Amino acid sequence: MKKVHVSSILLSVILTLWGCNMQAQTLSETVGQHFRIGCAVNNTIVQNPQSAAHKHVCNQFNSVVAENCMKAQFLSPAEGVWNWSEADAFVAFGERNGMQVIGHCLIWHSQTADWMFVDQDGKEVSREILIQRMHWYIRTVVGRYKGRIAGWDVCNECFEDDGTRRQSPWQRIIGDDYIELAFRFAHEADPDAELYYNDYSMSVPAKYEAVCRMVSDLKKKGLRIDAVGMQSHNGLTWPKLSNYDRAIDAIAATGVKVIISELDLNVLPNPDTFSGAEVTQFYEYTPELDPYAKGMDRTTEDLIGERWQAFFLLYRQHAEQIARVTFWAAGDADSWLNDWPIPGRHAYATLFDRDYNPKSVVKEIIKMYEGQMYRYRYVRRTKDK
Ligand code: G3I
Repeated sequence: MKKVHVSSILLSVILTLWGCNMQAQTLSETVGQHFRIGCAVNNTIVQNPQSAAHKHVCNQFNSVVAENCMKAQFLSPAEGVWNWSEADAFVAFGERNGMQVIGHCLIWHSQTADWMFVDQDGKEVSREILIQRMHWYIRTVVGRYKGRIAGWDVCNECFEDDGTRRQSPWQRIIGDDYIELAFRFAHEADPDAELYYNDYSMSVPAKYEAVCRMVSDLKKKGLRIDAVGMQSHNGLTWPKLSNYDRAIDAIAATGVKVIISELDLNVLPNPDTFSGAEVTQFYEYTPELDPYAKGMDRTTEDLIGERWQAFFLLYRQHAEQIARVTFWAAGDADSWLNDWPIPGRHAYATLFDRDYNPKSVVKEIIKMYEGQMYRYRYVRRTKDK
């Protein structure tokens, strides 16, 4: 009788332990031990606490960034008009769930309402007026969330891929020092917030070298800049891992952290030869350009899985230099790549399918972040194409 009792206890202990083991580990519990792991969230996710997407974000990530609701176009669509409700809800959502909350983005050539740059007659304002407006805009937005936002993307996409300054209205009207002014104003509004520069195609040498020069210049002037965001809208063959690797080292050498700030993988065919993430590019839908509308075969999925592993291996190797890796969507269903550069396609852009189930590669990534690095050295050499 006693024997039966002991063995049933043993059995229940084993089953309990096995049950615990069966609980899938999350990115936050594993990858998140090396650097912050986050995702961009949209208003629908924030506003629907019962949705699978909402629960998935809270479960998998320890950092969130506003995909759209903190862009100037939405916060201030007309002079003197402010729409705070979505941004307020986003910040409260992150806080409620104990996540790091990131603000995106203060100064950008895109998604800023026209009123910012023109006077009542529609004429471009002077440098002085635009500096005043920039100061007031940053003070109002950063000041509103003072102490609640861990870090801000202060300036977004200010360089072309050849390393020259993008001729945005900010650049044209104010001149080269607009970046410096933006960082100054953001720091003034919340001295404790981290401040970032963010851009795409950051593995292109001419571009990251120009950004590194800008960062060094800001630091020489005593301005606060904590990290550079490499957006990382990646593809299956782009960027070249060796360039990506060198870019991380070059940025870190300027004395700031690296953030992989908008990570996704575009596996859909290109309608044309293009790269980067310029949101104004659009092309016609054709079924041939949407090959995974009804699902994906195992071989293609494995190929994509290998690419994800190559990136995550690189991040693991650079973990000391990387502060955060953020996906630019909670799951495939939420990715901007479903609608860019062709509306209505079926993107496979993240590590989570359309029902927020982890793809099989997630287990491999988790193993990689729990295991010893020496096991992966060989993989790195062979994947460094
Ligand atoms: O919310 C409005 C809605 O009110 C309006 O009726 C509707 C009609 O067009 O548009 C809705 O806004 C859309 C918005 O996403 C929210 O869904 C915009 O049209 C659309 O252009 C916008 O796209 C966003 C894009 O930035 C431009 O702001 C994408 O979701 C967002 O993922 C993308 O994110 C950018 C980063 O901020 C910077 N780096 C590149 C990255 C990808 O383009």
